[in-house]
Amino acid sequence: MTSEAKLSKDDMTVCFILGGPGSGKGTQCAKLVQDFGFVHMSAGDLLREEQQRPGSEYGELIQNCIKEGKIVPSEVTITLLEKKIIESDSNRFLIDGFPRQLDQALAFEKEVIESTLIIYLECSEEVMLKRLLKRGETSGRIDDNKETILKRFKTFLELSYPVVEHFRKSGKVHTVPCEDSVEEVYARVKPIFAELFKQK
Ligand code: ADP
Ligand code: C5P
Ligand code: MG
Repeated sequence: MTSEAKLSKDDMTVCFILGGPGSGKGTQCAKLVQDFGFVHMSAGDLLREEQQRPGSEYGELIQNCIKEGKIVPSEVTITLLEKKIIESDSNRFLIDGFPRQLDQALAFEKEVIESTLIIYLECSEEVMLKRLLKRGETSGRIDDNKETILKRFKTFLELSYPVVEHFRKSGKVHTVPCEDSVEEVYARVKPIFAELFKQK
């Protein structure tokens, strides 16, 4: 399903924002977009969009995976991301919540583009649980409930954290503690970007 790499890679930058569920990936990305003009893509948001698209052949599969805290097969997610990148006028992308599993990391970097920088937001399950239960009061998400959250933690530990470990060898990973306030966390994230990218 994944197409051949067809992006002009010379002038294109992709950064991955990784971290457990509720670590604050989306929140930090919104701030980076303002300061550095990246286009932000949340893999989870793209999957939810596809799940709701009338006629999607993946709707049910995606819904089941999200409800069970499981990972949607890579081809589906990579195709959605690649399509968004191709359609965009920008050449700077922040991708959050992806890669979630080693095969996604390997396939994306081989078939689409290699990442420049990876931020890993490090957070305890206790703090993430608290944030997600609070978010669940208003998010309407089918996975922001305690039962699914615990499954998501398990998936993160077993399948997603090894992606961070994999990338550590490349020297591209910056680990950022993220249990403090949004502003305090951003004060750690921003300088990492400022060193590599011009501000708007
Ligand atoms: P993720 O995208 O990693 O799942 P979000 O950015 O959606 O996480 O954040 C999860 C919840 O926690 C949201 O309700 C958000 O407002 C809140 N949040 C994010 N960062 C912080 C922080 N540093 N301190 C307190 N709450 C936060
Ligand atoms: O990142 P977010 O919390 O929005 O992801 C919600 C759910 O979407 C995940 O628990 C998982 O079921 C699915 N997902 C996935 N593969 C990704 C990102 C998200 O399967 N790369
Ligand atoms: Mg998110």
